[in-house]
Amino acid sequence: MLKKLMKKFRLIECTVVEPSGERISSYKKLVEEEKDALHCVTFDWRQETIQEFCNVKADGLKKFNFVSAIHACYFIAKQDLNFHLNTIFGWTKGTILIMILGEDGFLSRLQKKFHGPAYAPKAFTYAKSITDSFRSLDISFETSALPCECDVTRCFESDSRDGKLLLDFLLQRVGCREDGPPELLKRVKEFVDSENISYTRSGRIYVEIPTQVIIGLGSKDSKT
Ligand SMILES: C[S@@+](CC[C@H](N)C(=O)[O-])C[C@H]1O[C@@H](n2cnc3c(N)ncnc32)[C@H](O)[C@@H]1O
Repeated sequence: MLKKLMKKFRLIECTVVEPSGERISSYKKLVEEEKDALHCVTFDWRQETIQEFCNVKADGLKKFNFVSAIHACYFIAKQDLNFHLNTIFGWTKGTILIMILGEDGFLSRLQKKFHGPAYAPKAFTYAKSITDSFRSLDISFETSALPCECDVTRCFESDSRDGKLLLDFLLQRVGCREDGPPELLKRVKEFVDSENISYTRSGRIYVEIPTQVIIGLGSKDSKT
């Protein structure tokens, strides 16, 4: 993405907001590998959540031409979205790109199905909450759907480490296989096998996780 932006901008100041130190290290490694190609980009690394960044940077911030939040808004609580999106728009004189799963996909359906006293996955924010928030803030936006599928076959292979991690991700709980409610894996498999939930191709089990691409158009007079 930076290389594409370099075609339009001669100098780029890139602020990276990322709570995970591990993620920041891998991003820095990539940047180092590409340092010649990215010669006109400077980086400001912020190891914090977008919520922390919003709270600290409320005033006097330079404006950004472009804000990108790709699969990074799931853990902004719904009740806080208006505040954070409005703050982000306050910094933006250009465009904001958000990519986030829609609630019609497998992940949301799975979490709804299994939500209950014995099992309550961490609440997730999906695309509709973002667009609802944009509407209530009177921020104009465009959306498009990006079809995506996920191969969940390994979730049901007892010796697969990737499958165990994928299951934890889908159910938003660490250690589902070892510490989850008894029968959880069996019930998840029954759900995956039920009508209109999954399909198979070449012996693999796939589910759909459609992603919404939401482009918010910044630069509203009242917000710049
Ligand atoms: C699925 S990854 C996407 C990473 C990157 N945007 C990409 O497309 O490759 C989600 C990222 O969002 C980060 N994240 C999670 N919660 C966040 C928050 N509250 N604020 C900012 N980033 C967050 C995670 O640490 C993770 O690196």
